[in-house]
Amino acid sequence: MKIAMGNDHAATGLKWVIKEYVEGMGHEVVNFGTDDNESCDYPAFGKAVGEAVAKGEADCGILICGTGVGISIAANKVKGVRAAVCSDVTTAHLVKEHNNANIIAFGARIVGEELAKDIVKSYLTAEFEGGRHQRRIDLIHDIEG
Ligand code: RB5
Repeated sequence: MKIAMGNDHAATGLKWVIKEYVEGMGHEVVNFGTDDNESCDYPAFGKAVGEAVAKGEADCGILICGTGVGISIAANKVKGVRAAVCSDVTTAHLVKEHNNANIIAFGARIVGEELAKDIVKSYLTAEFEGGRHQRRIDLIHDIEG
């Protein structure tokens, strides 16, 4: 899969760890995040990854900031994006199975490296279940207009 990644300054170190991890799983990463630790504003990175996913330029996205919250809120402003913050592996597979989340987000100040890898693996290996869950996703997108 082609995976769009984005991060702010709070998550540059974890971005490199996760990038190497998913590349090791055989995926291609497109890096939209900052590559240094200088304070910066996360909305632009959430938008860039959201747009890449919404346009189909990437199959899914991974966003990381301090908490995963701000950058996911920004991504969710892009029509067609379903970005979900995950701090545990159960949520990580359920957001794919039930919500067909096309972006996962987590916080570099919340989860450690090993849990972050497990969250990513849980999400990437899960399958959307469709059925009643598709109906609910359609209802969410009706809200977008
Ligand atoms: C940056 O200090 C921090 O606010 C940001 O990374 C993120 O946690 C916001 O939601």
